[in-house]
Amino acid sequence: MMRGRNIVVVGTQWGDEGKGKIVDLLTGNVAAVVRFQGGHNAGHTLVINGERTVLHLIPSGILHDNVECLIGNGVVVSPSAVLDEIAQLEARGVKVRERMTLSPACQLVLPYHIATDVAREKARGSGEIGTTRRGIGPAYEDKVARRGVRLGDLYHGHNFANKLAEVMNYHNFILEKYYNANTVDFQKTLDDTSRLAEEIEPMIGDIAPILHDLNVRGENILFEGAQGAMLDVDLGTYPFVTSSHTVAGATSVGSGFDPRRLDYVLGITKAYSTRVGSGPFPTELFDGVGKHLADKGHEFGSTTGRPRRCGWFDAAAVKRVVRTTGISGLCMTKLDVLDGLETVRVCTEYEGSNGKIAPARFDSEYYSELSPVYEDLPGWQESTAGAHDFADLPENAQSYIRRIEDSVDAPVAMISTGPDRHDTIVLKEIL
Ligand code: IMP
Repeated sequence: MMRGRNIVVVGTQWGDEGKGKIVDLLTGNVAAVVRFQGGHNAGHTLVINGERTVLHLIPSGILHDNVECLIGNGVVVSPSAVLDEIAQLEARGVKVRERMTLSPACQLVLPYHIATDVAREKARGSGEIGTTRRGIGPAYEDKVARRGVRLGDLYHGHNFANKLAEVMNYHNFILEKYYNANTVDFQKTLDDTSRLAEEIEPMIGDIAPILHDLNVRGENILFEGAQGAMLDVDLGTYPFVTSSHTVAGATSVGSGFDPRRLDYVLGITKAYSTRVGSGPFPTELFDGVGKHLADKGHEFGSTTGRPRRCGWFDAAAVKRVVRTTGISGLCMTKLDVLDGLETVRVCTEYEGSNGKIAPARFDSEYYSELSPVYEDLPGWQESTAGAHDFADLPENAQSYIRRIEDSVDAPVAMISTGPDRHDTIVLKEIL
């Protein structure tokens, strides 16, 4: 029997590695693109023929005709966010509804989740996580607490109203009594959500059998991760993380696809590091180089517009990620942002507060005590932007990439040299 190839794309840092562009590029060779975790906290920017599109919830494959876009059970779905995004795409002539399927097992993100997210961040004060304030964390909490309302519940009228009342009583109690914040109106939430539910209903469908059928028909499938491995709720810089599993291991549980059929994990890795929100960041730069990276790399969050913190490439961190998420190959992005620097630095290991070499581990209390040990490499003055061939890159840029492969223990399969689909060097054909 002919089987399709199944590729997982995940971020290897703190998100914003440029996954959207690569997913879009690889989508040319797949029948379906699947989201399996996260929600509309993600921001995937695509630039096609100079036109910029930012997607939050809808898989980055949507701009290719005929590709199925599937939202797996591991995703938390805001009905209003999904419909807004569909409307924006439709306004540009992109047909969405007939190609989208959302699992009925997706947890809903509703206004009381946002109210709780905002109230909690406010209460944390200077200790805030720096969430996107999209209600993502509270929605995942409701799921594991087994009081959550799922997409499929919307179509069981009376039961939906009862479930919503129960969970809203809980949230409103906490909002009012614990956070001293405004409560959320039940009737309005019920009416608004029921209205949106009607529009979403034709797009609801069980994802697992769709994936199985595509696979046995020999079609390729792409699983699109959101955020990055260092924001994983268990394996990341806890508690400064998102509330879902962002590593490749989440693919199967978040979609119902057989994990034995995953063929390749592509880890997207920026040529330097960025982080948005709070939490430890050993290679963070506060000097002119940090500013250079932020300015040249346009490092502002695509969901919240917040400036991103910038720093040198952290090979010690990515090496651990390569092992924990499982990476077959890397795609390096935004190499051109380093063009023109005299020296480029790579953190190859950490030193603890006692001055001794310390193993990479991300729990925040421990991780924030570590200092980077750097290796300096000569920079390059030539432009790498838009290069299509590895041999066209300046020698020092080639050495930088080879040094990173070596220090993180994973091969570089692709290099992205600009925002457009075509600005890409392919070292290994994945599909
Ligand atoms: P939450 O996902 O909104 O709960 O935010 C938790 C942490 O994850 C914060 O530090 C956010 O900035 C970060 N985060 C969430 N989504 C993204 C993303 O798509 N890119 C980068 N960081 C993200």
